[in-house]
Amino acid sequence: MALPTDQELIADWRTQPAPLLPLLHAFHDRDGYLAEAAIVAIAQGLRIPVADLYGTITFYHHFTRQPEGLQAPRVCTGPVCCLRGGKELLAALADQGATAMPCAGRCDEPVPVLQGHHVLIGTNVATLTHKTTLLPPPNPGGIEECVFAAIREPGRNTLVGYQRSGGYEGLQRAIRTMTPADVVEFIRQSKLAGRGGAGFPTGLKWKAVAEAGGQPKTIVCNADEGEPGCFKDRAILDYDPFAVIEGMTIAAYATGATRGFIYLRYEYPEIAQTLQQAIDEATAGGWLGANILGADFHFDLYIRRGAGAYICGEEGSLLNSLEGKHPFPRNRPPFPVTHGFENLPTAVNNVETLASAAQIMRHDADWYAGLGLNGNAGTKVISLSGDVQRPGNYEVPFGLPLRTLLYDWAGGPLPGRSLQAVTMAGLSGGFLSGEDMQTATLDEPSIRSKGSMLGAAGIIAFDDSRAMVEVAHNAMEFFAHESCGKCFPCRIGTQRLMAPSG
Ligand SMILES: Cc1cc2nc3c(=O)[nH]c(=O)nc-3n(C[C@H](O)[C@H](O)[C@H](O)COP(=O)(O)O)c2cc1C
Repeated sequence: MALPTDQELIADWRTQPAPLLPLLHAFHDRDGYLAEAAIVAIAQGLRIPVADLYGTITFYHHFTRQPEGLQAPRVCTGPVCCLRGGKELLAALADQGATAMPCAGRCDEPVPVLQGHHVLIGTNVATLTHKTTLLPPPNPGGIEECVFAAIREPGRNTLVGYQRSGGYEGLQRAIRTMTPADVVEFIRQSKLAGRGGAGFPTGLKWKAVAEAGGQPKTIVCNADEGEPGCFKDRAILDYDPFAVIEGMTIAAYATGATRGFIYLRYEYPEIAQTLQQAIDEATAGGWLGANILGADFHFDLYIRRGAGAYICGEEGSLLNSLEGKHPFPRNRPPFPVTHGFENLPTAVNNVETLASAAQIMRHDADWYAGLGLNGNAGTKVISLSGDVQRPGNYEVPFGLPLRTLLYDWAGGPLPGRSLQAVTMAGLSGGFLSGEDMQTATLDEPSIRSKGSMLGAAGIIAFDDSRAMVEVAHNAMEFFAHESCGKCFPCRIGTQRLMAPSG
């Protein structure tokens, strides 16, 4: 079959919402790289100055401008992969033109290598194999779950399997028995707060979007998951894509939004297919599109793949990236709830937040709030990796002792070793060690009282064999590399922190 021409690709995408990223990907996929001629054609097709477009393209890691660059291996050298031979694997693949990539969100597996549209995993060239995304381990504490309650059900990522295990009960309840304002109030009472890191109350965010003037309104699912050590959204999207779609549809009903985007990180190529299949099934089944459940309610959903840039997880950068602009963060206020995608009211929510909302709508607000321990509301999925016996995604009640997770649930350190330190919030929260590591509970107030934060809840464990100064240096290398450069404290500060002292 003949490949599409430049003009055909441009004609396919220019009238679609948020067209720049998919158009760049279409050229990148067709040619295996972004040629100069392609950049000029896209700039002309979308009426963007070439210099602007060039700056935007080069901001992202994964748009290669070398012929055949798409097929060159990209090897994860994130903080966990460094412990597992990521740098050695990179060196072993050098003759294939391999380059390093920051954490690719598979810290519970061997080192990931991205090649074309596939992820291989392994610790040496001989053992590289296709990915085997791991199901979250069963909750070892026997404690009731929310997000993961049904994720291990067979076929959960098909529409039939999803509905067999309670899927879409929440949306039906919302549309058939509640007004949009009731749904907002229900979510507010559940005390669900953002699981992407900032912890903003979800009900309040949806209320602000519902009350903001301007149409069309938008729901954006933040599936950028760029924080090193975080891989929870990947597991939810792989095994429970309909929960995210249902959560977005509930959010749309509550806020009056009619369009939605899932902004998916580049490093999860297979999930793009899983999600597209789920969207197609949901649309065919009448769960997306016009007159959902016979109501006067319309919601269209699109996937937009990022191209590799940590800052694009920050909601302002994400919105600029979606709009085809240079993905710098935006100054706030105004906030996205009133001035989001295309300057119109927008709810940006994390994958876990949306999947939680779908489950909460099937139950009661009090049920969810009551899942937490010691006065904390709800649950949190923790991505635990590094030097523990059973790394993985664990859904914990807020307030669970960190020790319980590390030692009882994840089996503690490897035989003969002891735990020296753990990171919090991926890398963003810094490290906890000593007494703090023994006494912290998994909730924001406790961890903040120790000078750190829980954030999106990636925890990387380091045993007594690790050189922590080197680990800290690697962390600073990541932040220096990923600084978008907009603000000088980060642009200059991260470079200074990374530089050898002397
Ligand atoms: C540097 C930076 C990176 C971020 N990365 C992510 C991310 O990968 N995923 C995410 O959901 N939120 C991320 N956030 C938080 C988002 O800006 C935003 O608060 C979140 O998507 C809102 O959704 P929530 O309320 O459901 O958590 C990041 C924030 C910052 C400052």
